[in-house]
This record gives sequence, C-alpha cells and structure tokens, in this order.
Amino acid sequence: MTAFPPDSKAAFSALYPETPGPLTHGLADHPLLTLEALVHLAHALPASSVEYNPALIPIGIAPEDTPKSNLSIEETIRSIEENGSWMVLKRIEQHPDYARLLKDALAELEDVTRTKTGAMLGQEGFIFISSPHAVTPFHFDPEHNILLQIRGEKTMTVFPKDDERIVDPRAHEDFHLGRHHRNLEWRDEFADVRTDFRLLPGDAVHMPVKIPHWVKVGSAVSISLSITWRSEWSYREADARALNSLLRRAGLKPSAPGNWPHQNAGKATAWRVLRKAGLARGD
Ligand SMILES: [Fe+2]
Repeated sequence: MTAFPPDSKAAFSALYPETPGPLTHGLADHPLLTLEALVHLAHALPASSVEYNPALIPIGIAPEDTPKSNLSIEETIRSIEENGSWMVLKRIEQHPDYARLLKDALAELEDVTRTKTGAMLGQEGFIFISSPHAVTPFHFDPEHNILLQIRGEKTMTVFPKDDERIVDPRAHEDFHLGRHHRNLEWRDEFADVRTDFRLLPGDAVHMPVKIPHWVKVGSAVSISLSITWRSEWSYREADARALNSLLRRAGLKPSAPGNWPHQNAGKATAWRVLRKAGLARGD
C-alpha cells in the first residue's frame, strides 16, 4: 500500500521542513488502522504507551486541571462514539506490524528529508482515537510530523511558528530542559492568525517541528495516524534553545535559533560541550 502518491510527495517536498500544509495519503483503508485492530494494538502495547484523556475541555488548560478518566482502555475504545475521550497509542513501532507500516511510509519520503535535514532519526508513530467533538488543547511537539486522517473528520488549527507573542522563547527553553508541559498558554487574540486544515479520510497535513496547534474532531469518531521523526537539524534547534536558557540566566538576551536552512551549529555545539563537561543542567 503506497502511503504518499506522487503529487503528495511533490507537495511534501515543497513544504518540508518549515511550512505546514496539506497532503494526501493512501492508508485510509489499511487493515491495521480499523477500530477493531486498534483494540488489539492497545492490549499489545505496554500500559505506559496508552494515554487517554477526557476530551470535552477548553482549548487552553493547565495540565493539573485536566480531569482524569475512569474507563479501561478497551471500554474507552469500544465506547469512543459516546464517552467523550481522546486516546493516544504511543510509539506503535513497539509492535512489529506497526513498525513495518511506519518504516515503509517514512521510507517513501526519505530522499526528500535526507537532502534537507539529514537522516530520519528517532522514527515514532502515534495513533489518536477520538470521540466526536474532542479537543486536544493548544500545544507544540518536538518532532517532524505528518498527521494522516484515517476515519472521521479533524481540524488542525496551526499558528505561526516564530511569533514570540504566541510562544514565549522561555517556553521553548523550558520545554527542552524538561521543565515545561507541552501545553501552551492560550489567549483568544491568537485566533486572528490561525490557519485551519480540515482533514477527511485520505487527507494529511505536514506539521513542522514545534508549530503551535490545537485539534478539534468533527461530529463522528476520528482515527488519525501520526508519523514522526527527528533530525540532526531538529536536535540542534533544541540544543540552541537550551543554551539560550543559560545565556538568559546570565542576564543576556539571546536571539532565537535561525530557521532552516540555518543550522544553529555554533550554539548547539556549545551546549553539547557544556553538558558533557557537567557545566550545564536543566535546573
Ligand atoms: Fe500535537
């Protein structure tokens, strides 16, 4: 089964790595991605790789205010139509069948990514199963990501990546030092600079590293597959952010890491040297 038809791959090539945008895919009818198959996958994965959350919550919410669910994994999946949840099966490549699915899909794009950001490192897959109208709050993620819609309708609402009004540089820095939950602070005025990508089965969207976004499911159960990878370029951006935290604590006002094709090599190297020497810590 081809994941990305030629026109989709050409679109990806034009977008990667810094621009969000629509793609198409051929995996909507894949037998490993039905609700029934996902019940089996949820049982096969370690409990720590299955996260479920109540879904009818505000767009911006503090992690400690998120209510907890009382249903089992299987009950959650089987009653997903009416239970108001979203769940994520994490690192699906821990199961050999899903490892192959992920590897094959990413291999189709490898020649594009290699020339721009180097080898595809840290390949991980996630599957989101969501009740109608489920909301995933405003947040960012550290990976290169393509989200493939398998069933139902989902809208990904994205925001400019480099607008420091939307994401304070300190939120980036704290995130890379492990001190910040991925959820971001939401303010209603951000809605002015939003871009919506409405996804139906067969649609996908390219999500650049750390692009702020929130997600809303349509009126039916939604299943999405997220295929992610890291690159040396993305690790350098993360390390440059970590060094900036140190510089800021020293009273300086460091500039944000440069966009691709800037490599952020100087700051990343400095951070790696300091960390190795035991001179840099996250606290
Ligand atoms: Fe996300």
